[in-house]
Amino acid sequence: MSKLSDEINRRRTFAIISHPDAGKTTLTEKLLLYGGAIQQAGAVKGKAAARHAVSDWMELEKQRGISITSSVMQFEYDGYCINILDTPGHQDFSEDTYRTLMAADSAVMVIDAAKGIEPQTRKLFHICAMRHIPIFTFINKLDREARSPFDLMEELEKEFQIGTYPMNWPIGCGHDFKGIYDRGEKEILSYQQFHSGTEKISADHFSLQDKEMLDERIGSRLLSVLEEEIELVDGAGYDFDLEAIQQGLLSPVYFGSALNNFGVEQFLKSFLELTIPPLPRESGGVPKEPTDPDFSAFVFKIQANMNKAHRDRIAFFRICSGQFDREKEYWHVQGGKALRLPQPQQLMASDRAVIDHAYAGDIIGVFDPGIFHIGDTVCEKGMNVEYGGIPSFAPEHFALVERIDTMKRKQFEKGIMQIAQEGAIQIFHDPHSGMEEVYVGVVGNLQFEVLEYRLKTEYGVDIRRRPLPYELIRWLDVEESAIRSLNLTSDTKWVQDFKGNNLLLFTSGWCVDWAVNKNPGIVLRAVN
Ligand code: G4P
Repeated sequence: MSKLSDEINRRRTFAIISHPDAGKTTLTEKLLLYGGAIQQAGAVKGKAAARHAVSDWMELEKQRGISITSSVMQFEYDGYCINILDTPGHQDFSEDTYRTLMAADSAVMVIDAAKGIEPQTRKLFHICAMRHIPIFTFINKLDREARSPFDLMEELEKEFQIGTYPMNWPIGCGHDFKGIYDRGEKEILSYQQFHSGTEKISADHFSLQDKEMLDERIGSRLLSVLEEEIELVDGAGYDFDLEAIQQGLLSPVYFGSALNNFGVEQFLKSFLELTIPPLPRESGGVPKEPTDPDFSAFVFKIQANMNKAHRDRIAFFRICSGQFDREKEYWHVQGGKALRLPQPQQLMASDRAVIDHAYAGDIIGVFDPGIFHIGDTVCEKGMNVEYGGIPSFAPEHFALVERIDTMKRKQFEKGIMQIAQEGAIQIFHDPHSGMEEVYVGVVGNLQFEVLEYRLKTEYGVDIRRRPLPYELIRWLDVEESAIRSLNLTSDTKWVQDFKGNNLLLFTSGWCVDWAVNKNPGIVLRAVN
């Protein structure tokens, strides 16, 4: 094999998704610890602790005045080159969180064993499922009281309509947590809580034949429960099927405790083995092989710098094929221009570095003087590659925004358009009026504050913001003249985006159902 295909095939680019507090930050950090990218894990949210979580990128951003949220951590482990994409899941949950999943080849879903599936897990899962990427499940916090593993698996299967395959099986939970049974190796990893979790540890392994150890570490009651449960899982569960895993139809499930470093190393090894390297992506209906020597990449995220001293933006590219070379000129398809990508950067563990080369599967961040849009492609000169399909996701919060100072029309329009272009907000207008009032939709409420802050600091515009009662938005393919005659509830609002697409804003699911039921043939889409 050539050097290029060697490099690409050893890449594993994935996102970790979870509902806040399930343990995404902790698991990320422990993967870095076991991957050798960091020597010691910080206390994740111990605010008094001197060390901050390495993956707390928002905090890093504040400290350094640079924008690296939703970027990527790269490190080498066991011959693999690993890219972990951060998907902000806290109050800064935004469309970026979704878009980041467009750049990932697989996803790791962290679930709190006491809580099961939570709202944000649900939302993020559906984006992964839409892309048919492999989804690995890490059921965390077994050191606390947990729901029955059977219950958790059933919930995953029922809600997400996928198969599950437990790679290991927990022995007890909470105070009674004794370890996990590794179904592949047919051995037990014994859990002992005795350390702070900041350094690597290796759990004791022993076989099912080692009766003396089993008695001592696990005890006869839990052992007989384990034997019964394994029999059930072996008999009634799905069969192991690598193809189904790699197509996102079967999710391998791992139990563990990220905080106590338990099950993390086994998870990392198994995940790397089972998941996929970068796969072909479609350009104009034709799959483009990652090992195709011609470079191509698309923008999945644009991050404006919140620091006023640096008004630049960073565009994040996912490389889809070939090798990137810093010295080379490439073709910006949508801009119709040849260019060099200025100051290409990668985040290596916790350091940012300007890089000379990168390969398909990698993410690079480049300084953007305002020329790139979400979804844009850059490729080899003389080629015309276009990766479509970065969808617009439905915002969930809406507000009407107007400027306070009537003199500042130009600044207001420029500012709000640019911020929308970066994809931080979506903007709509009433087809009957102009830009005096703008309907703004966001995925996470924090984006409203970001908008207000940025309009003020970057464009000198103060705004008034009126929350609107809408909760759901749907794109619709109906002629403008026909929209007026649709039978809709009186609180449904017709708006247009700035490409002229027609949309409806609804205050509830009930109103959406009304629109569907009263207007036969109408097609409403939640994702554009
Ligand atoms: P997130 O990024 O998904 O939001 O979760 P994060 O890793 O920050 O973890 C959320 C909390 O859960 C943290 O507690 C963390 O220490 C704890 N946690 C993570 N993994 C485990 C685990 O395996 N076992 C247990 N028992 N706890 C775990 P915190 O915010 O520091 O404190 P608190 O929320 O407990 O007060």
